[in-house]
Amino acid sequence: MTHRSRKPYIAGNWKMNLDRAKSLDLIKTVKGRLGDGNDREVGFFVPAIYLADVTAVAQGSPLGVGGQNIWYEANGAFTGELAPRMLREVGADRVLVGHSERRHVFHEPDEWMGRKVRAALDTDLLPIYCVGETLDERKGNRTDRVLKRQLESGFDKVLPIDAHRVTVAYEPVWAIGTGETATSEQVALAHRMIRKWLAQRVGEEAANLIRILYGGSVKPDNAKELMGIDSVDGLLVGGASLQAETFLPIIEYDR
Ligand code: 13P
Repeated sequence: MTHRSRKPYIAGNWKMNLDRAKSLDLIKTVKGRLGDGNDREVGFFVPAIYLADVTAVAQGSPLGVGGQNIWYEANGAFTGELAPRMLREVGADRVLVGHSERRHVFHEPDEWMGRKVRAALDTDLLPIYCVGETLDERKGNRTDRVLKRQLESGFDKVLPIDAHRVTVAYEPVWAIGTGETATSEQVALAHRMIRKWLAQRVGEEAANLIRILYGGSVKPDNAKELMGIDSVDGLLVGGASLQAETFLPIIEYDR
């Protein structure tokens, strides 16, 4: 199966940026430009406080809207956290799990990842499970080991039958927000390793349904090259997803 048998997935992660008015403007603009969504999937991961408004504006379009994080319990004494069902309730259909900022700024441990991915799947939220090595880990030749450890924890409770609903994002930590994109060779190697691991974990047939995105300083001028890499099924975009002028050309990388 070649990678283009999987629908390209272009996702924007707004992180803690924009405000309510700018968020709604951006969704309106992208919605207006998007076709029927048949040939590519586009999703936005927005601050949870804006989810209800953003999903209301996105309605009637193929735009997917998701949260940037969840806790894995359905309710309880977890001050400041959000249950997957709460995101569903305000219209989200997807969620990021294990983003590098969650892991490195907020110290989320590997042990939580499998439960979060499982909780998302059980609530009908499509997870993008993020993995990626730090610069020290890459320099110390530990990239493969780190990615495998992260995959192991995230896929702990994923069954072959769930696989088509899970997306993996490879985001090298050193390439996030730095302007330094991984080289095509580095991306291809990491993606191939991830797909091989997935095939061993859930079987080749199920693994072939899982999309693997690249993230880290994706811009309009490198999107086409990145999408040209045989093992890249889509892009997870931070900074360049905050404005229509930079995000639309990434969505339309092949036009
Ligand atoms: P940048 O595109 O700003 O490097 O962010 C990447 C990212 O972390 C997306 O989740």
